[in-house]
Amino acid sequence: MIGEEELARRVGRLSVEQKVRLLTGAGYWALHDEPDAGLRAVVLSDGPAGVRGRTWDERDSSANVPSATGLAATWDPRRVEAIGALLAREAHRKGVDVLLAPTVNLHRTPYGGRGFECFSEDPLLTARIGAAYVRGLQRHGVGACVKHFVGNDSETQRMTVDARIDERTLREMYLAPFEAITREAGAWSVMAAYNSVNGSTMTENPLLRDILHRDWGYDGLVVSDWTAARSTEAAAEAALDLVMPGPASRYGPWGDLLAEAVGNGKVDEALIDDKVLRILRLAARVGALADDPAEPAGDAPPAPTEVVAPDSLAVAEELRAAAAAGFVLARNEGLLPLSRYVVSAGTGLSRPVRIAVIGPNAEVARTMGGGSATVYPPYTVSPLEGLRAAGLHVTHAPGVYPYVRIPAARAPWLLRPDRSGPGAEVRFFGESGELIGSELRDGATWGSGFAMAGGTEPVARLEIRCVIRATAAGTYRLGVSGLGRYRLVVDGTELFDTTLAMPEDTDTAQALMAPPQELAPVRMAGGQSVTVVLEHHVASAPVGGFRTFLQVILDPPHSTDEVEIAAAAALAASSDVAVVVVGTTAEVESEGFDRASLSLPGGQDELVRRVAEANPHTVVVVNSGAPVLLPWAEDVPAVLLSWFAGQEFGNALADVLLGAAEPGGRLPMTWPATEEGLPSTRPVDGVLAYSEGLFIGYRGYDRDGRAPLFPFGHGTGYTTWSYESITVDCDVPGDRGPGGVAACVTVQNTGPRRGREVVQVYASRPSSAVERPAKWLAGFAAVDADPGETVTVGIVIPERAFQHWTAQAWATEPGPFTLSAGPSSASLPLSAEVERP
Ligand code: BGC
Repeated sequence: MIGEEELARRVGRLSVEQKVRLLTGAGYWALHDEPDAGLRAVVLSDGPAGVRGRTWDERDSSANVPSATGLAATWDPRRVEAIGALLAREAHRKGVDVLLAPTVNLHRTPYGGRGFECFSEDPLLTARIGAAYVRGLQRHGVGACVKHFVGNDSETQRMTVDARIDERTLREMYLAPFEAITREAGAWSVMAAYNSVNGSTMTENPLLRDILHRDWGYDGLVVSDWTAARSTEAAAEAALDLVMPGPASRYGPWGDLLAEAVGNGKVDEALIDDKVLRILRLAARVGALADDPAEPAGDAPPAPTEVVAPDSLAVAEELRAAAAAGFVLARNEGLLPLSRYVVSAGTGLSRPVRIAVIGPNAEVARTMGGGSATVYPPYTVSPLEGLRAAGLHVTHAPGVYPYVRIPAARAPWLLRPDRSGPGAEVRFFGESGELIGSELRDGATWGSGFAMAGGTEPVARLEIRCVIRATAAGTYRLGVSGLGRYRLVVDGTELFDTTLAMPEDTDTAQALMAPPQELAPVRMAGGQSVTVVLEHHVASAPVGGFRTFLQVILDPPHSTDEVEIAAAAALAASSDVAVVVVGTTAEVESEGFDRASLSLPGGQDELVRRVAEANPHTVVVVNSGAPVLLPWAEDVPAVLLSWFAGQEFGNALADVLLGAAEPGGRLPMTWPATEEGLPSTRPVDGVLAYSEGLFIGYRGYDRDGRAPLFPFGHGTGYTTWSYESITVDCDVPGDRGPGGVAACVTVQNTGPRRGREVVQVYASRPSSAVERPAKWLAGFAAVDADPGETVTVGIVIPERAFQHWTAQAWATEPGPFTLSAGPSSASLPLSAEVERP
């Protein structure tokens, strides 16, 4: 690696103009190059569910890993580090140097729209899993960008909201994952959030310099969230290093204004030098800085020598295992794992088990949440496909139609104009109406930005052209999702010419993920096809086209929920087992807005109730990125929480339902029984008071004496365990750090098969002089054991687990703390005392 002195020398060689130019992006995803410093352009890309790359285009696919909640649910840093390494390979394949991930904001409340993208309600679990993700990326030369620093734990008014968080809560809860990940895993970049904390916006906030730089000795880069930087001087002084996106002529408050501020002495040039140094340091770390500045630095990351395709078997196997390892078996009254065969009552002979796979999410794989975390997987495996591929005898009924918004047209109805396969043709027209290009897409969504691939001429008008083929007779509602002016023409007849708008201050991500929709009915006979042309005028889109995602949407005919539920219940009654897959969609759980309700959308609760009545052997699979209410949970024998499980969802589900894989997950957050008593995401007069302080998640339930549906840390596997003993300060290999202690917990596998148990250790301080949670997670480790086997696992409890933040510093109360061990936060059969000096 190029040394610090050489980095400083290269900074010294640049003029103020050259330096300032580097401090705003060159475009949406790339930084500027600087030949005089031997610097090539560094490329950034969104995650965390994959590496999207520089386009929003389904033809440029990316491996889609489980949502952050699914990764956290593994409680397995080693596995998550391997996922980080997989993402690093993806980054290399896509020419990406820095992944804008992981998201380590906390689940302050389940209403947070981006909960699926964050790991946990607990700072220690978030820190451990986040650090593993970062190590996996950075060990392979890809930078992490830990986000969003800090207090961006919900989406409502995120550009302007002021999160009021007392310092102890900040230090012990919301800053803690950033601290651990920057200090221990050495993250190379951090993203400053949109929101304010305690009165100042995060791109200008003193926390950047005072805590990140000074207290933690951070030597990495601070990047603004996209369009979060709002001031020239204040942001420059506050230790923000890089304004994104660029170019400065179009976005952000730096560029010429910053050069001017340096020129007239309002901003010290030494501050600029430090920022440039940090850019060069990052570039050196990711290999974007030539060893010899006289050498040409190249203009893009070099192509990797070995490419692993996102649809390769190796990637599939890893993602399949990772998804299963995060599935949480929240309830199992002996129904799972399923047998492949049942003994027929009549003949006494065994025959294949008949499984009714029911529910809206059975046929469509919901593999990720919405917003900037979106990637385009090369394929997805739905639950139905996964169970079929496992060779099971399955039948299907959707049960209900839960869409709040109408989804994009898709197979089997959507065809390209030449009927060569599912998809559409997009045509681009210039100012004077001439056709300047076209492309074939695999879906009915277009949103790559108006500079189409390779095209230089401005696009004035676009058309999406496709064919919709009816699978059955009925009324098909066809339309558009987007902003601006749209004309829909079906078989040559105009169905509408309308302009769709949202309020001025709508969040960009909301405008992209959930824009207005317009629909028109088309009656079709079974097998009939119509040609569809959706036309859009670029100038009519609110922000120069940036906000527009063009989408042909389709609502095929379906019966009422009542009819569909009756059909599903009948199917369940005539089957041996019912697997009901319920869940949310990317439009319910997304960046840009918070959740208005924690209930499953549509009639899904009623569907579960009726299916469970019809067949007592009912497993409910909950396909959501974050908690939803499950009012029927006690009435069904098995509940499996699958999160947004990534592209291998269905295969992993088959593995777990059949017992080929252990449902390895434990809850990384509390699942509420009701909506009562949860912190709100709604600011009052622009202020969001974190008045619950330290008491989020299980800390809040403990304080209030409320019972959740499923407690933090909960989840069972396919075997049983007994907790035998705990000893403290035992012999554990590895570094426990100054002031850390080790706990050794002995457990026995008392069940019939090999399994994995996550042994959790919580600390408490029964008679404390300071207000504290009743208990808090202090360490954890997983054990694997055969039936009858007894295993002792050593768990390091860091000094920080005993500390609390006083006005100025960390402090440890002297005297006894209790360490309790068990399988979840609500079941801690073992405890031991540890004395702090
Ligand atoms: C999100 C970030 C994301 C960025 C770039 C922002 O709206 O908050 O998480 O990395 O956009 O897409």
